[in-house]
Amino acid sequence: MSRSSSDRPNYGIDAPGVIRNLLVIAAICLLLALFGPHAFHIGNVSIFLGGSLLWPAIFLLVPGLLMLLYSLHGKFLHRDRMLALHAWRGDEQVLDVGTGRGLLLVGAARHLTTGHATGIDIWNKGDLSSNSVIATQHNLELEGVAARCTLVSEAAQQMPFPDDAFDVIVSNLCLHNIYDRATRNKALAEIIRVLKPDGIVILSDYKLTLEYAKQLQLAGFGVDRQPPDWLRTFPPLAIVVARK
Ligand SMILES: C[S@@+](CC[C@H](N)C(=O)[O-])C[C@H]1O[C@@H](n2cnc3c(N)ncnc32)[C@H](O)[C@@H]1O
Repeated sequence: MSRSSSDRPNYGIDAPGVIRNLLVIAAICLLLALFGPHAFHIGNVSIFLGGSLLWPAIFLLVPGLLMLLYSLHGKFLHRDRMLALHAWRGDEQVLDVGTGRGLLLVGAARHLTTGHATGIDIWNKGDLSSNSVIATQHNLELEGVAARCTLVSEAAQQMPFPDDAFDVIVSNLCLHNIYDRATRNKALAEIIRVLKPDGIVILSDYKLTLEYAKQLQLAGFGVDRQPPDWLRTFPPLAIVVARK
């Protein structure tokens, strides 16, 4: 018997509006390049288009398709790369900041025996398609890890957790969505506050990773920044690994 789409875990499409815009504008450019007029005439002025819209179409189409490929395939490889940076014991308390549909949360929970994984998010649908606490809870159940996981609906910059609560804190593509630097710094300060003294932070993002690394260094962490794997992630995602 075939499974319906709601019987399968679904981790959503990242930045769905950006991908849609890239593909729609690329399609319009492509159609105009192939079938549009060769020239527009405004008064006495003629603007020649010819096939000149072909290149913009390609420049928009390629990143749109690569972003889609990341959402459908690359992010699972990237998740495994991030989680392989910690030597799992199984008893860890884990926090996934900006868990979305639970990509890293589920991956971390699979490494746990007696430990527990918590995902915190504000479920912004612009950052991830069909993002909601209900959709993520459904994924946890389908993946068989719901008993080892908790979802918390709060912002990263105001975490409702006590100090020194987590052994491992992970986060992928979340912090850049906090546009204001002071608020972003507050989110990082919260990560530092709720991490246990011998804990590890594994953060990944397509920009601002030098900023995260610097703040963690200033807080006394030993920091290693790993470059993006261009074959798996687009936009390319660097990883910051920090130990207290
Ligand atoms: C691109 S999605 C990535 C989701 C997940 N980490 C993954 O890799 O699949 C970014 C996530 O960050 C969340 N987010 C954005 N700003 C946040 C904030 N201030 N606090 C908590 N979560 C936030 C969004 O709701 C979204 O779920």
